[in-house]
Amino acid sequence: MLTLSHVSKRFGKIQVLHNLCIYVPEHTIYGFVGQNGAGKTTSMKLILGLIPADSGEIIVNKTPVIFGCSPANQYIGYLPDVPEFYPYMTPEEYLHFCGTLSRMSRKDINRRCEELLKLVGLASEKRRIKGFSRGMKQRLGIAAALFHRPKLLICDEPTSALDPVGRREILDILTAAKEQTTVLFSSHILSDVERVCEKVAFLHQGHIVADGSPEDLRQNFTNVTAPTDIELVHPEETRLLLAQFPALKPAEASALKYENQVCILENCEMLPEILHFIAARGLNIRRLERHEVSLEDIFTRVTEEKADKYA
Ligand SMILES: Nc1ncnc2c1ncn2[C@@H]1O[C@H](COP(=O)(O)OP(=O)(O)OP(=O)(O)O)[C@@H](O)[C@H]1O
Ligand SMILES: [Mg+2]
Repeated sequence: MLTLSHVSKRFGKIQVLHNLCIYVPEHTIYGFVGQNGAGKTTSMKLILGLIPADSGEIIVNKTPVIFGCSPANQYIGYLPDVPEFYPYMTPEEYLHFCGTLSRMSRKDINRRCEELLKLVGLASEKRRIKGFSRGMKQRLGIAAALFHRPKLLICDEPTSALDPVGRREILDILTAAKEQTTVLFSSHILSDVERVCEKVAFLHQGHIVADGSPEDLRQNFTNVTAPTDIELVHPEETRLLLAQFPALKPAEASALKYENQVCILENCEMLPEILHFIAARGLNIRRLERHEVSLEDIFTRVTEEKADKYA
C-alpha cells in the first residue's frame, strides 16, 4: 500500500531523513517509532506531498506522490499530531461537513456519519467539540480521516497525549479500522505499538535502524535479553542468594508486593548456576519468571548502538 524508496530530506544544513526505505503491506497496522525529532512527522508530510523530498520515490496504492498536488492523496486519510476542529460544531455536524468536502451523496454522507460515529464511540455525543476531551477529539479526528474510505490511514502520534484508557480506545479503533484500511501510525510509546502493530520501523535521527514484525525483531536481536525474577519464600534465604551471586540485584522496594524476597537477574547466563545453588540448598522458590524481550528493550539497544555511528 505504501512504499518509500531511498527518500532523503534536509532542512537547510540539517539532514533530517537519510535514505529511508519502508514497505507497508495492505491491511496491516504499521508502527513508525522514534524519539522526539527523529523525523516521523516530516516523513508523513512527505507521504502527503506537503513538503518536497530531496531524493527518492514514494508510492501510495501504485500512485506516485507529487509535491504540492499529490494524486495519491485521494487514497489517504490523515490525522495530524494536533488536529484542529471548528469548536462550535457537534461531532455529527463536523463529520457532515467533512462529507460535503468528499463529494458524496447526501444519503451516503448520512450513512457514513452514522457508521463512523459508532466506530469511534461518539454516536450519542450531542455536545459541541469545544467541550471535548483530548481523547474525544482524537477519536473524532480518526472518524474524519476515515470519512472518504481511504486505503491508507496516517495517524501522527494519536495516543501520545492520552491517558491509558484513552490510548486503549484509540488502539481499539485502529484495530477495528484495519478491516477497511491500512494504518501507518507514529508513536514513541512502545507498549502501544507492541499491542497493535504487525510491523514496525524504528526511526532514529532520520535513519531506519530496524524494521520488521515484532517477532522478527526479537529473533534478529537475540543479544537483547530481558530480566529474570527469582522470588523466594523466606527473607533469610533471599539474603543468602544475594550474597552468593553479585549478579543478582534485589528488587526495588516499592515495585512488588514481596519485594524483600525478589531478586532480579539482568543477564540469564548465570541462571543455571543459580538454580543449581537453590536446588542444592533446598531454598524455597515462590516464583521464577523470565520476562519477554519487549520492543522497548530492542529499541533502547538499537538506538544506543547507533547513537555513536550517526553522531
Ligand atoms: N519546517 C522545518 N524547518 C526546519 N527544520 C524542521 C522543519 N520541520 C522539522 N524540522 C526538523 O526536523 C527534525 C525532525 O522533525 P519531526 O517533526 O519530523 O520529528 P518527529 O519525529 O515528528 O518528532 P516529535 O516526536 O517531536 O513529533 C527536527 O530536528 C526538526 O527540528
Ligand atoms: Mg512529530
